[in-house]
Amino acid sequence: MTSDNATTATPTEAATPTEAATPTEAGTTTTGTATTATAAGHGIADGAGGDAPLRLVVIIGSTRTGRFSPVAAAWFADEVRKHHGFDVDVVDLQGMDLPDSLDGTADTEALGLRLAAADAFVVVTPEYNHSYPAPLKAAIDHFHAEWLAKPVGFVTYGGMSGGLRAVEHLRGVFAELHAVTVRDTISFYNYPNRFGDDGVPHDAASAGEAAKGMLGQLLWWGRALRDARAVRPYGG
Ligand SMILES: Cc1cc2nc3c(=O)[nH]c(=O)nc-3n(C[C@H](O)[C@H](O)[C@H](O)COP(=O)(O)O)c2cc1C
Repeated sequence: MTSDNATTATPTEAATPTEAATPTEAGTTTTGTATTATAAGHGIADGAGGDAPLRLVVIIGSTRTGRFSPVAAAWFADEVRKHHGFDVDVVDLQGMDLPDSLDGTADTEALGLRLAAADAFVVVTPEYNHSYPAPLKAAIDHFHAEWLAKPVGFVTYGGMSGGLRAVEHLRGVFAELHAVTVRDTISFYNYPNRFGDDGVPHDAASAGEAAKGMLGQLLWWGRALRDARAVRPYGG
């Protein structure tokens, strides 16, 4: 593995700034590519029928020129499509009019409908100064009911931290919104060296297994909470 400063051979839209190498925080479960998600017990029955598919909204969490986020999101959305159980809608915040004033716009209305239709979310986010990007916070803050009693998972990337500090901040934000964050996170540390020019991780099998594990958790929570909301609207 190379250092954080490497930006070669990446599928980024442009060269990306990086921070100095930071040791991974003790206690995280990050392995080579991702968390120690196991396929066993993942709950995804490939090729099986079952309940109506869950609507999974994947949010591209960075908006800057030259961002990497769409690459990670496209990889993850492809992983979702390999499995039964989900319909996927990829939301790109770039170019959306989501004012810091939290005033409503045509874009907030349209985005709100897409979020409201979701049974589950996956936020794809980098780490900016040990947290997550400001446009992502604005997108979250514009809405409330749309998040309530729904599961949220994370795909994250960065230097040595793999973006995990952004995820820990987001867990608190989503708890305030009565959303349920799932345990497993897909985390790519030193991410510029982890993806080929085709946008697929070099260790695709391992990353795919990690995705499967997280999707199993989203499926369980998504179905359970969808059923529960249908029986008894969540009152907060
Ligand atoms: C404003 C800013 C702050 C950053 N801070 C961190 C950081 O705290 N930790 C980290 O691992 N990488 C950090 N980076 C490097 C990012 O991981 C890297 O630029 C990544 O490509 C950002 O995601 P994006 O390309 O989707 O915007 C930072 C990048 C930017 C632009």
